[in-house]
Amino acid sequence: MSSLQALCSGLPLRPLPENQGRWAGVPHAPVRTPGLSPAEEQLALRNALRYFPPDVQELLAPEFAQELRLYGHIYMYRFCPHIEMRAYPIEQYPCRTRAAAAIMHMIMNNLDPAVAQFPQELVTYGGNGQVFSNWAQFWLMMSYLSQMTEEQTLVMYSGHSLGLFPSSPGAPRLVITNGMVIPNYSSRTEYEKLFAIGVTMYGQMTAGSYCYIGPQGIVHGTVLTVLNAGRRYLGVEDLAGKVFVTSGLGGMSGAQAKAAAIVGCIGVIAEVDKAALMKRHQQGWLMEVTDSLDKCIERLREARRKKEVLSLGYHGNVVDLWERLVHELDTTGELLVDLGSDQTSCHNPFNGGYYPVQLGFSEAQSLMASDPATFKGLVQESLRRQVSAINRLAKENFFFWDYGNAFLLEAQRAGADVEKKGAKRTEFRYPSYVQHIMGDIFSQGFGPFRWVCTSGDPQDLAVTDQLATSVLEEAIAGGVNPAVKLQYVDNIRWIREAAKHQLVVGSQARILYSDQKGRVAIAVAFNQAIAQGKIKAPVVLSRDHHDVSGTDSPFRETSNIYDGSAFCADMAVQNFVGDAFRGATWVALHNGGGVGWGEVINGGFGLMLDGTQEAEQKAKMMLSWDVSNGVSHPKPLLCLLSPLVALPLPTADLSQSSAPFTSEMVRTLSCRPAHLCLFSSAAHISLGLFPEAPSHRLALPSSSAFVHTECPWCQTLPSQCSTPIAIAERPSFKPLSFYHL
Ligand SMILES: NC(=O)c1ccc[n+]([C@@H]2O[C@H](COP(=O)([O-])OP(=O)(O)OC[C@H]3O[C@@H](n4cnc5c(N)ncnc54)[C@H](O)[C@@H]3O)[C@@H](O)[C@H]2O)c1
Repeated sequence: MSSLQALCSGLPLRPLPENQGRWAGVPHAPVRTPGLSPAEEQLALRNALRYFPPDVQELLAPEFAQELRLYGHIYMYRFCPHIEMRAYPIEQYPCRTRAAAAIMHMIMNNLDPAVAQFPQELVTYGGNGQVFSNWAQFWLMMSYLSQMTEEQTLVMYSGHSLGLFPSSPGAPRLVITNGMVIPNYSSRTEYEKLFAIGVTMYGQMTAGSYCYIGPQGIVHGTVLTVLNAGRRYLGVEDLAGKVFVTSGLGGMSGAQAKAAAIVGCIGVIAEVDKAALMKRHQQGWLMEVTDSLDKCIERLREARRKKEVLSLGYHGNVVDLWERLVHELDTTGELLVDLGSDQTSCHNPFNGGYYPVQLGFSEAQSLMASDPATFKGLVQESLRRQVSAINRLAKENFFFWDYGNAFLLEAQRAGADVEKKGAKRTEFRYPSYVQHIMGDIFSQGFGPFRWVCTSGDPQDLAVTDQLATSVLEEAIAGGVNPAVKLQYVDNIRWIREAAKHQLVVGSQARILYSDQKGRVAIAVAFNQAIAQGKIKAPVVLSRDHHDVSGTDSPFRETSNIYDGSAFCADMAVQNFVGDAFRGATWVALHNGGGVGWGEVINGGFGLMLDGTQEAEQKAKMMLSWDVSNGVSHPKPLLCLLSPLVALPLPTADLSQSSAPFTSEMVRTLSCRPAHLCLFSSAAHISLGLFPEAPSHRLALPSSSAFVHTECPWCQTLPSQCSTPIAIAERPSFKPLSFYHL
């Protein structure tokens, strides 16, 4: 099979492709240990065979059973396509709607071996972030997409396409849910089984929504994190000569090496997997490598003395590195490290996400498959040792933070000393990077917005970089508050650095942090440039699920919710639903992205700009909701009230002047293109009014009452106001305050 045409023509059955099994020369996922009963194994096999006609099932059944026995999952290696897997220019995909071709472009990028962590197991990043559960699902998806029209929507259940259903041009072309299970059964053990049986899938944050753009996506955030950690903990702007020690050179963690070089410090990153380490070295993201701890320490000392910019990969276990740093401190009195973190895949610690220090790499891979209980014990002991070394260093002038991989959560579960006395459930002895280091950016609407040029032409990316820069510069010139200006300035600098450091791996993509206003303005500028032919092909907008309103994650993005709702997940679900009917080309709802199965719910989207008026309208509507939902969340309202946030916001207490909605007012409002969105009628918190498609009208639960008023700052209805408005209500239905954000 050699062409995209063939790739889109359905499962290759006549003749069946040759089964080449696992390919040599590409990294492979660790063996899964789902612990299926014989009956569950039968079920897994039956489920795998349902994709095939009866006449080939006899041949495939023993092969799939063998895969299940050997690897703990049926990937269907026979059907792994032999085409060069990459994001082909959009016009090369056979399709009836360009939206479908854009989705295919994104899917193939997520499976590109230069991008994906375990390409043959369909894992993009994070150890188990699946694009699909098996290759049959991939083939079916490509076939459906190539047939899809503007009047159809494709529905995906955890990698399994349900088919094309009648729909309308304004609706999403694709609706994805990954890993949605009944909450009481959302445990890791259940997940292993459900995944092996072929009925659910862990989509990470962006793998299962096809919006991963390579480690560039996280380089930006890591640059800001390390810079801000330097500002906050060391009191310096210039990180020359400062040492940042961490672990992981995988899908996302690989960004740490590049970020260290960009911020100008010395980054020492431990990685147990030689293939992952060498991949980053060959890509130029890691400047030097060594597998000797002695040489690592010697080189670190030298770079520190000379204040060199360095990213040094240590091929070995990070616990050995931390313990060696303690040894150096204890024997020489020299503290060789200033900042530290960890980015092993602790969201999945017992299945290859975290390698215990007591075992070599391949020894660990064997034991996790042959004796999972003993392996788990070793992982937990290793985590305790790691924390104990970090605690020793932290008694000196050394600062550690959790980098969103559930490291502290797992360390706590392992019995390590990470407790913060008197703290709430989501806090530990060391801070999480989101709130403490990145700052309160989500409350201002800043988050990792991104775009992909589907022409695949670097020149298009250069045009979008210029457009985004001028949009932000114009916004600054037009006058913005100091906090927003700081973000815009940092991001302009980032775009320039990103282009200079050649951060593109895979599709022609860029990321930057922007607020709602910036995102909308950038989208409009791109769309106009496409219409004028300055950009050759559609641009897909997306973002990390780790964003203002995409993620309910009590140990990460939403750890700073102070009203007790940290373990609620209304926001991500509302985000997914709200984006769907405001113009997203596709939407995704995931269980577990980032910090792991059962620990978080994420919502995400893809939106294709093709230069049309409709695309501009959709972008304006959908991006507004996509940000406002989070900005208006009770968390930022509470943050705004807290003295920690220095935002000069006008507020007015309208409790005396505003009246609840009357039926007359509801009628008036329902004639307007506006939609009132509720988080929870029980909590009587309304989020305000958001731009909405005229086809959708207001629905008011009878038990709730709402405030209807004009925006006191621009005298328009909130739906016409360019910035989001949040209204907080008391259970008594009296309005508390009105915020113009
Ligand atoms: N901070 C963020 O914004 C953010 C974003 C995405 C993902 N994450 C989380 O970060 C983690 C890493 O993501 P990833 O995509 O890089 O995963 P990954 O699995 O691709 O990479 C982790 C790497 O750590 C290595 N490793 C494991 N144990 C080790 C040890 N003891 N010593 C040295 N190396 C070890 C593994 O070999 C692997 O290469 C995940 O938990 C992910 O969910 C965080």
